[in-house]
Amino acid sequence: MKILFLNGPNLNLLGQREPEIYGRTTLPEIEAKIRERATKVGAEIDFRQSNLEGELVAWIQQAKGKFDVVVLNAAAYTHTSIALRDAIAATGLPVIEVHISNVHAREEFRHKSLIAPVCYGQIIGFGVHSYVLALEASLNVNVSKKVDK
Ligand code: DQA
Repeated sequence: MKILFLNGPNLNLLGQREPEIYGRTTLPEIEAKIRERATKVGAEIDFRQSNLEGELVAWIQQAKGKFDVVVLNAAAYTHTSIALRDAIAATGLPVIEVHISNVHAREEFRHKSLIAPVCYGQIIGFGVHSYVLALEASLNVNVSKKVDK
């Protein structure tokens, strides 16, 4: 199982950015946590961050054939990016949408996700543990589909 973790704009600032909302854990610390768990369950991961919409689009396009699942915290692009939505739809890969904060308990402009309709599922509001839950969800992507049918 190969899982690509993608992080959007400003997530490189985790740890210092609005800690009352996002906590004090840095992105490299989240990556270390995910790598440790992935090793235990025998999953291979790649973990990236970009502030550029086009770079995220390119990474999603390139994931086809190389990864089984994409875990995406698109950050602010979640609420604005038709380009990301189209890239997700184009790959056909299962993409799990992740957010650290509970976006539905925040400003109204964060309630709408343009990528949600083309994502496999969402994990929202569990703090940095959202990433761990997304890893667990990735391992069960096919199982969940069967349960649904
Ligand atoms: C976020 C929520 C987004 O609304 C926000 O723009 C972010 C982070 C989260 O993980 O809670 O940058 O995706």
